[in-house]
Amino acid sequence: MTVREGWHPIAASDDLPAGHIYAAQLCDVPLAVWRGQDGTVNVWEDRCPHRGVRFTIGSIHGDELRCQYHAWRFRSGSGACSAIPAHPTRKPSSAIRATLFPGVERDGLVWTKLAGDQDAPPQLDYAGAVLRAIAVNCTAQAIEIAIARAPLPGVRLFVQPVSFARAVIRGLAEDVSRLAEHDAALERLRRGLERAAA
Ligand code: FES
Repeated sequence: MTVREGWHPIAASDDLPAGHIYAAQLCDVPLAVWRGQDGTVNVWEDRCPHRGVRFTIGSIHGDELRCQYHAWRFRSGSGACSAIPAHPTRKPSSAIRATLFPGVERDGLVWTKLAGDQDAPPQLDYAGAVLRAIAVNCTAQAIEIAIARAPLPGVRLFVQPVSFARAVIRGLAEDVSRLAEHDAALERLRRGLERAAA
């Protein structure tokens, strides 16, 4: 299985309040992540199908995302274009839609994958608190090796490969009262990894 075929956390549930478009990136693919009115998590390529403007500079109106440039609107769930203001009487072609990736919310984290079968992200059943995301200037593989060599007790960690030389560590802690301690440990891990990568 390639990295693109694997599930990765790309945001925390708290990053998606109503009306907000969260900018994420996975394996060099920029993503616009937002929540529909019924709670649906939309994970779209951050690129309007009209002229390629980033969706993340657009705005949310009810259950639709409006592109900032020509104000075309796209529906939560399907990503289908619902309105083209320059042609108000014309129904948009069903072929005009955002590029969608699956979005699954689990245990306070939002997961997606860029390719592969319609399977599901790992079932964690982990009652805990979401750790602060830590961005690290090194490869995802280097982080995975470091975590496997010296696991942090009381946490489950996951790696979001952002680009070849950058990744984000996300995770869950068993004990909410130890969040500051885990945060400090992850900062030490980040500094060690970036020193090694320099
Ligand atoms: S670029 Fe998005 S509507 Fe034109």
